[in-house]
Amino acid sequence: MPKAWIQDRKRDYYYKKAKAENYRSRATYKLSQAVAKYHFIRRNDVVVDLGAAPGGWIQAARKIAGKHGFVLGVDRKPIEPFPQDYIRTIVGDIAEPETLWQIRSFLPRKADVVISDVSPNISGVWEVDHARQIDLASQALNIALHVLRPGGNFFVKVFEGDLLNDFMKTVEAHFESVKVVKPKASRAKSSEMYLLAMHLKPTSRVEEQN
Ligand SMILES: C[S@@+](CC[C@H](N)C(=O)[O-])C[C@H]1O[C@@H](n2cnc3c(N)ncnc32)[C@H](O)[C@@H]1O
Repeated sequence: MPKAWIQDRKRDYYYKKAKAENYRSRATYKLSQAVAKYHFIRRNDVVVDLGAAPGGWIQAARKIAGKHGFVLGVDRKPIEPFPQDYIRTIVGDIAEPETLWQIRSFLPRKADVVISDVSPNISGVWEVDHARQIDLASQALNIALHVLRPGGNFFVKVFEGDLLNDFMKTVEAHFESVKVVKPKASRAKSSEMYLLAMHLKPTSRVEEQN
């Protein structure tokens, strides 16, 4: 890791706050700020968290959904397990059909919310990173359409760029409302932002084959 990046991170307000409050990542605050404003995760919800390692969003979602809710974290990297039995984690690539199958088999019922902070390894070539991010967001949408209940919500990371409009149109076709959200904890200079899609249309859900 470059030295300047490590120094930058140590000075970062949310990085220090996460350390002090025992959260696994500064990203925790991006989710909790967005939910505080738009209420798309509620008490007792079943939540699927894609790209969940190291687990900051899992911690934020668990706090909101509570012990009668359920949070399933998915990442291609292993996530250090949580002791609570209403939090489960699985290792899987969201592009693999096997991962969707695994997610379904772990859920106690249809999900109320799918959240995705999945992001690629950044190459530094803006067009490449933007295209990869939109591709991952499309994979996350596919999972959401398979596991969400009608009326469920979807929150997904995207990067600004020319493919975003088309992706947003695709999401709009499936949900009652879609908005762009940039939480305060998301660095202002980064092109990262989130789409919040509320209320999956009943006709958009993909029925299970089995
Ligand atoms: C920004 S981090 C997520 C941080 C997390 N939300 C938190 O609060 O701790 C992005 C994650 O996406 C994961 N990821 C990238 N591509 C993936 C894929 N195809 N399938 C599953 N996870 C992926 C990475 O391994 C990484 O852990």
